[in-house]
Amino acid sequence: MDYKKIVAQAVFDVLSEHLTVEEVYQLIETPKYEKMGDLAFPCFTLAKTLRQAPNQIANDVVAKINSPYIEKQEAVGPYVNFFLAKDKVSNEVLSAILEQGASYGQLAIGNNETVVIDLSAPNIAKPMSMGHLRSTVIGNALNNIMQKVGYQTVKVNHLGDWGTQFGKLIVAYKLWGSKEAVLESPITELLRIYVKFHEEAETHPELEDDAREWFKKMEDGDKEALDLWEWFREESLKEFTHVYDKLEVTFDSYNGEAFYNDKMDKPVELLEQKGLLKVDNGATIVDLEAYQLNPALIKKSDGATLYMTRDLAAAMYRKETYNFAKALYVVGNEQSNHFKQLKAVLKESDLQWGEDLHHIAFGLITQNGKKLSTRKGKIVLLNEVLEESAGLALAQIEAKNPTLANKETVAKQVGYGAVVFHDLKNDRLNNFDFKLEEVVQFEGETGPYVQYSRVRALSILRKVDMASVPKGELTLTDDYAWEVIKQLRDFPAAIKRASELYEPSVIAKYVIHLAQVFNKYYANSTVLAEDDQLYARLVLVQSVSDVLKEGMRLLGIQMPDEM
Ligand code: ARG
Repeated sequence: MDYKKIVAQAVFDVLSEHLTVEEVYQLIETPKYEKMGDLAFPCFTLAKTLRQAPNQIANDVVAKINSPYIEKQEAVGPYVNFFLAKDKVSNEVLSAILEQGASYGQLAIGNNETVVIDLSAPNIAKPMSMGHLRSTVIGNALNNIMQKVGYQTVKVNHLGDWGTQFGKLIVAYKLWGSKEAVLESPITELLRIYVKFHEEAETHPELEDDAREWFKKMEDGDKEALDLWEWFREESLKEFTHVYDKLEVTFDSYNGEAFYNDKMDKPVELLEQKGLLKVDNGATIVDLEAYQLNPALIKKSDGATLYMTRDLAAAMYRKETYNFAKALYVVGNEQSNHFKQLKAVLKESDLQWGEDLHHIAFGLITQNGKKLSTRKGKIVLLNEVLEESAGLALAQIEAKNPTLANKETVAKQVGYGAVVFHDLKNDRLNNFDFKLEEVVQFEGETGPYVQYSRVRALSILRKVDMASVPKGELTLTDDYAWEVIKQLRDFPAAIKRASELYEPSVIAKYVIHLAQVFNKYYANSTVLAEDDQLYARLVLVQSVSDVLKEGMRLLGIQMPDEM
């Protein structure tokens, strides 16, 4: 049902001596204006090979084209514009969605191969930041999208659960911490004592020595140190899980940095064996000047391993365990050098599969134009943002639809969904500012708007018993319906594109557009008129509802039936 392919074939039938089908396909475009048709073929490229004026070629093609899918073709200057046979396309698109329901758009690109997705990865004892939210929702959406195009996926939460900061936390906990407070509100308490540690250490530098000593104990397997560490980890994870539950995000593995403590010999030995290790100021490094990158730090001067060493071990472990076709690292832009280094080191080690690692970078979320950071105490507790958002959604529901059943549940779907949608609708590399009031609007390019559009579709469908409506042809050809049908037709292509670019925003923009053309259609047609196209219109409305729901599911957003 790729109409571009069908048109390409028709053009190819005319030009087979000069171009391949694939070349024709690549050249075909979507015209800017509707009155110029649904697809267009530019003749410039051929003009050179044929030594003919492009306008002349366009005229020739127009005269010779013959396809039941093309209703009309016109030469406009150097372009051939094609108008698809609306009745045929409408019937095919609507029949397909009617038959396939939620599986419409499922593709087989992935051949059941495995994609490992490294997502979320917050740091133990620290609040989950808006950056971790981005990683969580982008990673989760990519997970759904990659599955939809035929991959198996493994979601790994590479927790930041090891490092010298735990030495500080242990010291701080022993001096100023309370067990009750940690149990009551782990992140708040752990952050409080961590901040206190840094304040106190300014006047009592010996605290830093104690911290180093405790971290050393952790590395040497001291029971007391490890028990405390494990407890911090468990309690923190419990709190992160509140957020994951709200967003309905699950993981297949929580193997974080600590998991690789006993798995770093392997990469280090490999680097040694390949003769890549150098000692520089006491530290062990891999020189990456050939890549115009800073050296990769493998071991500190005291022998301690680093973030990079763990990521090398993790990549090797994942390749061995999952034999992935791709490994996606959904991590902020600011770590782009780290992932370039990681790939470069794998390449230097002759590990070909290093090519299959992709850093899925994303931009910063700012608030009033400023970066959010933990250090300066300007923390944004994600949990609170989600709750506030649900609160704003509830207020709007109270105002608009006070008699709605299970308002609280719907408010959560709307409020949480609004935050997630706002995150996913921008190209992931863009920075964007976060203003909650804008995010939870029911109008504009928002999650609630998309949800509301489907609620509207469902309320139309509730007014009739579809089973009793005589089935007619699914051929809708008026302008408003045609806009909706074209958008429905493009769902598989949008999914494919989102998977190739690792870009959930393609789907978010797609559903916004679908909601917009549907709302125009709704405003300009009498869906329930009792004529012989009633069935076709109901199928159209049903299809919009199904595709909006499936599109939002890919983004990880729930769709209430009423709101
Ligand atoms: N915990 C890290 C951070 O918050 C992100 C880890 C990303 N994943 C990885 N394999 N390096 O910055």
